[in-house]
Amino acid sequence: MSILITGGAGYIGSHTCVELLDAGYEITVLDNYCNSCPEALERVKKITGKDFKYYECDIRDAEGLDKIFKENNIEAVIHFAGLKAVGESCQKPLEYYANNIGGTLTMLEVMRSNNCKKIVFSSSATVYGAENPVPFVETMKTGTTTNPYGTTKLYIETILQDISKADDQWSVVLLRYFNPVGAHESGLIGEAPSFPNNLMPYISQVAVGKRECLSVYGDCYDTPDGTGVRDYIHVVDLAKGHVKAIEYVMPRTGVEIFNLGTGNGVSVLELVKAFEDANNIKIPYKIVEPRAGDIAYCYSNPEKAYKVLGWKAEKSVKEMCEDTWRWQKNNPDGYN
Ligand code: NAD
Ligand code: WQD
Repeated sequence: MSILITGGAGYIGSHTCVELLDAGYEITVLDNYCNSCPEALERVKKITGKDFKYYECDIRDAEGLDKIFKENNIEAVIHFAGLKAVGESCQKPLEYYANNIGGTLTMLEVMRSNNCKKIVFSSSATVYGAENPVPFVETMKTGTTTNPYGTTKLYIETILQDISKADDQWSVVLLRYFNPVGAHESGLIGEAPSFPNNLMPYISQVAVGKRECLSVYGDCYDTPDGTGVRDYIHVVDLAKGHVKAIEYVMPRTGVEIFNLGTGNGVSVLELVKAFEDANNIKIPYKIVEPRAGDIAYCYSNPEKAYKVLGWKAEKSVKEMCEDTWRWQKNNPDGYN
């Protein structure tokens, strides 16, 4: 019996592979490497000292998926595979809907035909939209998404809820991530974007000299220092949340939603300062116009995950900054 990790070579997927292997699970990984490479999986093997099978496969390829299910006796899926760049999704909505939603539909059909009906899905805090007050709680009505990427998350959540209503054998956990940052403390795996769209990768690319200066998107928000406030969570804490989610999904049926965040809001300037202090590096920045679609505050109420899963985030902002920097300085060009 094995857990299938789709998109397992990616940033969150690779860290989750480490935690699952350390917890004694057997895993099988698939990825089409559109935003990753197999080297990340070789490093997972190095960190854990454990072996597993991985396949180059696209979630839109029903035949390829079916073969993986048949060869590996898959009992549950953790579904990370998807495109995730907010800005790009506005330029290429069709690609995002086809890949994320189309791919998920194909995978769900293959799961069903192989009688595998347990899934943990990577959703996002973006589904709370701009209308809900912080901290976001799972019981809130989902909001209006502002970009096709966010809409794919909302639709996939709805699809999983609908299939579960129609067939009570399904067991679904929807994990709403806040802002994952950091890297494994070995410095061997981490986030390796070719262009950094998110704040922490941008800061670390400035630190390593690949970018000159950070642009801070607006300082006129209604927050203590005027910059956007987010709930940054260490990727290793997030990965451990998936081990808890797998334990939860296995013996049950139905749908459950969990926020995976720390519950602490940190502003852009606070994160810049924390990175500077933790690593003794100056990060030059300039204030520019706000970015379209951004909101002032986004942070979680993480109590449900603690009460029900027995999970809470443990790593500090300092550790997030130190571990990001260790990864970035040891691998200035990512896995290349
Ligand atoms: P990532 O891009 O590093 O990982 C996604 C992986 O999926 C990549 O390895 C990519 O090659 C693979 N992939 C994409 N389309 C595929 C397809 N059609 N078939 C097979 N593989 C495919 O991103 P990540 O940050 O690790 O995110 C993982 C998941 O978590 C994504 O679904 C993302 O939307 C979600 N998420 C991420 C964040 C974040 O800030 N990183 C926040 C909330 C939710
Ligand atoms: C954080 C803060 C920016 C870059 C995104 C997605 C969300 C989820 C997580 C996937 C904001 C500011 C950023 C920069 C800046 N992803 N910023 N300069 O926007 O909270 O969330 O990633 O599901 O769906 O929307 O994360 O890291 O881009 O921004 O000032 O160069 O940093 O304005 O206040 P965000 P982020």
